[in-house]
Amino acid sequence: MDVYLDPGALADQLATDVRAGLTASPKTLPPKYFYDARGSELFDEITRLPEYYPTRTERAILDEHAQDIAEITRAETLVELGSGTSEKTRLLLRALRATGTLARFVPFDVDPAVLKDASAAVADEFPGLDVQPVVGDFERHLHSLPVSPRRLLAFLGSTIGNLDPAQRAGFLGAVRSTLEVGDAFLLGTDLVKAPSRLIAAYDDAAGVTAAFNKNVLTVVNRDLGADFDPDEFDHVAAWHGEHEWIEMRLRSRQEQAVHIDALDLVVRFARGEELRTEISAKFRRETVERELSAAGLRLTHWWTDPAGDFALSLSVPG
Ligand code: AVJ
Repeated sequence: MDVYLDPGALADQLATDVRAGLTASPKTLPPKYFYDARGSELFDEITRLPEYYPTRTERAILDEHAQDIAEITRAETLVELGSGTSEKTRLLLRALRATGTLARFVPFDVDPAVLKDASAAVADEFPGLDVQPVVGDFERHLHSLPVSPRRLLAFLGSTIGNLDPAQRAGFLGAVRSTLEVGDAFLLGTDLVKAPSRLIAAYDDAAGVTAAFNKNVLTVVNRDLGADFDPDEFDHVAAWHGEHEWIEMRLRSRQEQAVHIDALDLVVRFARGEELRTEISAKFRRETVERELSAAGLRLTHWWTDPAGDFALSLSVPG
């Protein structure tokens, strides 16, 4: 396993990010810290909720078009960014195998434990496939990906929606600079739709998303010796019409002070004050095409489900 991000570096990053976010106004925390073992479990549960359509919709699009993607790209290496359990990737791997071009799979994720399990499962299902997991942060380590001809770089799940426009420009620029002629970029993007459906997807009736949101406080408690009481915060999901993104926030139920030992920091919350924990941007074809193009990537294919809820796009350098 290639490791570009060791546990020490990740811990330093957490400390820096939490200090910056909780001393800012308004307060924020980056969404990448949701995903400890419990958070990943909760996210997995989210993907099966009736209100949370993105995962099953993207899977249906892949089911329908994986063979097209394989025949168009004829990829020899599939790199998956933020691969997690690589569940949807299997559809791509199978199609690329059927086309006869696939030799190598490079799952890329921040979590070594998840990577280890996912790599073993994929190696098991695809005998002879060269599986080369890489531990890294897709915002910082794209340049260290193994180079080989005909790579397909996949970034699924609309995880790109967690980035704001400036971060997306940086990320897409980094994607562009790792790609060479003959490579391609497959991107999953959740699309703009009625706010009522979007809000329901981020504030489900069973309260799983609320638990997922509050879990980030548990992560800060454990890793930085903080004393957040998750019950003293309410889960909020709000649609920001101007930016066309969903914001998840945690609203303080009362005036309170939180101590973060490892940072030697006291953070005060007013009653009703909100801490922003995630943005999840929703896209339109024009914006995806424009942002790709600004980064030097040319959109060649656009696939959606019949309702137009989610899109997969394929783009190439140039
Ligand atoms: C994994 C970032 C795509 O934004 O929809 C799910 C995370 N947050 N419910 C998303 C998430 C709340 C998810 N992404």
